[in-house]
Amino acid sequence: MAIQQLETVGKKFHDATKHSPLSVMLDPNYVDAITQPSAFKIYPKFYRRFELDKENPVHDFIRLTSTITFEKRYKYDSYQLRVNPSAGALYPSDVYVQIRGIKGIIDGIYHLEVATNSLTLVYELIDDGLESYILPDCLVKGFIFLVSSVYYRSSWKYKNRSLRYCFLDSGHHLGAIAAAAYLYQKAIQVIFDFDKIELNRDLGFENKEFVTASVISGEIKPKTVRKLRSPLPFVSPTDYFEANPFIEAGYRNTVLNDTARDLFSNRKLVPEIPYFNCPPEKFLPTILGRRSARAFKGGTITQAEWEQIWHCLQQTLPTINQENIVIYLVVNRVEGIETGLYKELQLLKAGDFREQAKYLCVNQALARDSAITLFFASHYDNYQTAMQIAGWLGQRLYLISNYLGIGCSGIGAYHDDETKKILGTSQDILYAMAIGR
Ligand SMILES: Cc1cc2nc3c(=O)[nH]c(=O)nc-3n(C[C@H](O)[C@H](O)[C@H](O)COP(=O)(O)O)c2cc1C
Repeated sequence: MAIQQLETVGKKFHDATKHSPLSVMLDPNYVDAITQPSAFKIYPKFYRRFELDKENPVHDFIRLTSTITFEKRYKYDSYQLRVNPSAGALYPSDVYVQIRGIKGIIDGIYHLEVATNSLTLVYELIDDGLESYILPDCLVKGFIFLVSSVYYRSSWKYKNRSLRYCFLDSGHHLGAIAAAAYLYQKAIQVIFDFDKIELNRDLGFENKEFVTASVISGEIKPKTVRKLRSPLPFVSPTDYFEANPFIEAGYRNTVLNDTARDLFSNRKLVPEIPYFNCPPEKFLPTILGRRSARAFKGGTITQAEWEQIWHCLQQTLPTINQENIVIYLVVNRVEGIETGLYKELQLLKAGDFREQAKYLCVNQALARDSAITLFFASHYDNYQTAMQIAGWLGQRLYLISNYLGIGCSGIGAYHDDETKKILGTSQDILYAMAIGR
């Protein structure tokens, strides 16, 4: 019964944020760039900070989950791009990490300050910690990452549709954490269903920021850990804020409720090293060099390259909250593979769908000039989880494509109903992506 309710509620929020040719015309998302809220959360200066040292493997593991990798300078402005992509480069997601039992680091909860590559100690642990909200009766010796979403950074521009982008971006950030874990051969487990509402309150987030997912990496021992003995004070994650009741309701209504959580209780968590089909020692340049393709020249990719990419996408994600995502493909330019519309690897309709793909993706040429344009579809159980899993898969697609020297871009803007119609599916379209030369 509880799961049934969630299905309906999550879908209601997805349906309310559909794009159509009319909606895009009526609201083209124009904003005055100088009013953009800050993309970096900075705790007050009296908090203790520890700079992350690239030469220290533990520090570097944490740094690579979020760091800035490229700076684009314009006449009056500059953009700092990161290991994780973000819709509109607005970066709603932030990362916190609880560190326990690691030599040379104070046991505590830290905010990862991306602007300075440092950890801000926001809470020292005694007999308490994040475990009690996420994994009751367990103690984690190692790391518990939290990904949060500062929704106003995205809703400032994308209004209600930013609910999607907050979840997708959070999923990409999980993918970035998984990539850093792979590089340092650390086992992880991602958990989406836990007491997020209580945790948001105790972390002092008010309605400005919300936890979307957690990542456990370490040794899990049976032990009772107390909830945080004193809540954290509120620290504003942006310089100004405008509430969006739709986003707040969309988040709250898609957090798994108690009844649903009971189904997942008794968790047997076994962290695993995430999968990538490239040697870990060769992976650093891929993490640091990941970028979104801004245009494709229209060249082909080979069948062997596509098979490697597909193989990577098929590997299970280390999480106990799986959601089934079906990938539809518009194959435009793959040597040895017939052009047309595919459901996974099954040809649905042969032919040239390039112009249609461009039209569906709100006239973005990337979808036409790609080798393949992908659509992630789902009859999800839980919307918040499914969107994050789509983003996580998206991060995998970026990394494996870029590793092979193939361009990739996320595409959050597409006409929902028309895409479903062309693909011939009743499943919701959660995300689109394009890969190519
Ligand atoms: C959820 C999501 C949706 C996106 N949608 C689009 C899109 O519709 N069109 C586009 O050209 N780029 C899109 N992007 C790519 C972003 O513009 C890009 O990630 C951002 O500018 C940062 O650049 P980088 O990925 O090279 O670091 C999207 C990225 C994400 C994560």
